[in-house]
Amino acid sequence: MADQLLSTVSHHSSVPDNYVRPESQRPRLHEVVRDADIPTIDLGSLDVSRVIAQVGDACSSFGFFQVVNHGVPDELMLSLMAVASEFFRLPPEEKAKHYSDDPAKKMRLSTSFNIRKETVRNWRDYLRLHCYPLEEFVPGWPSNPASFKEVVSGYCREVRQLGFRLLGLISLSLGLEEEYMVKVLGEQEQHMAVNYYPKCPEPELTYGLQAHTDPNALTILLQEPKVAGLQVLKDGKWIAVNPQPNAYVINIGDQLQALSNGRYRSVCHRAVVNSDTDRMSVASFLCPCNSAVISPPEKLVGDGSPAVYRSYTYEEYYSKFWSRNLDDEHCLELFKASDAQEA
Ligand code: OGA
Ligand code: NI
Repeated sequence: MADQLLSTVSHHSSVPDNYVRPESQRPRLHEVVRDADIPTIDLGSLDVSRVIAQVGDACSSFGFFQVVNHGVPDELMLSLMAVASEFFRLPPEEKAKHYSDDPAKKMRLSTSFNIRKETVRNWRDYLRLHCYPLEEFVPGWPSNPASFKEVVSGYCREVRQLGFRLLGLISLSLGLEEEYMVKVLGEQEQHMAVNYYPKCPEPELTYGLQAHTDPNALTILLQEPKVAGLQVLKDGKWIAVNPQPNAYVINIGDQLQALSNGRYRSVCHRAVVNSDTDRMSVASFLCPCNSAVISPPEKLVGDGSPAVYRSYTYEEYYSKFWSRNLDDEHCLELFKASDAQEA
């Protein structure tokens, strides 16, 4: 029910018990590394071979990077954030129209991650939209704020282009032909999560979104320019991702880890909350079509490097992902090739 939403309450003076993590699972914010950022790559650079090398390095070491000069107009990024924050400020009865906790719904406003399954909640509300093909889904999107459909659909088109360009660079960085990933992933779905993390009186006790990897192929995240919250796991330490103006945060999802035969990493990340300000982020997910067969390219499988994962369809993977808890082991572990498991 919509009264589960955090954004219907104007002020929280403490964190309710069902959001409090057990002591051993808390964020330990004082241990987070704040001065070792993920790489930033200038997509406007004319030195394309250098860009490809930077992409390859970032994907294999961090699984994350930021991009600047990426071609999505600054004004569009700003208007998207503006319309998204306007949406979360709508009156509760207006938001209630869109509320659902059914993960199968193609447009829904929800809270936490999957409240039907989880025992401790996350300090997050989110609007989740399917975005491709736009003609199919836009009619079902919110029509309040009045500009929502137009702004969000324009944004989705631009981000899809950026995603395809990145998949090209990723393919090249693996020594594959530029079109390789785009071809294998088929007619890709595109999903969006508009995340709203209200300010939280006790950020040490809870998460905006607990540690997870993204089940899709590639994620393109727009963060608010001034409010940090995303953290990435590297060598056992949590690293804060410092937002940069007009940049996107890009991360490798589980499917690119599988398609790169484990060379590129779908890395654990989390969002933490803070007591000063609300934070918003907008994640765009490129997802293989359901029938896409995820199996490593021949070029990346050889004597020294056997296939790490068995072949599967994305449909199989996605249903497994949603049947688990977000903090269970890496979902890809369930798809290990039998030889690799024995080794
Ligand atoms: C996600 C995600 C991080 C953030 O939506 O999958 O990891 O900073 N979001 O909101
Ligand atoms: Ni994520």
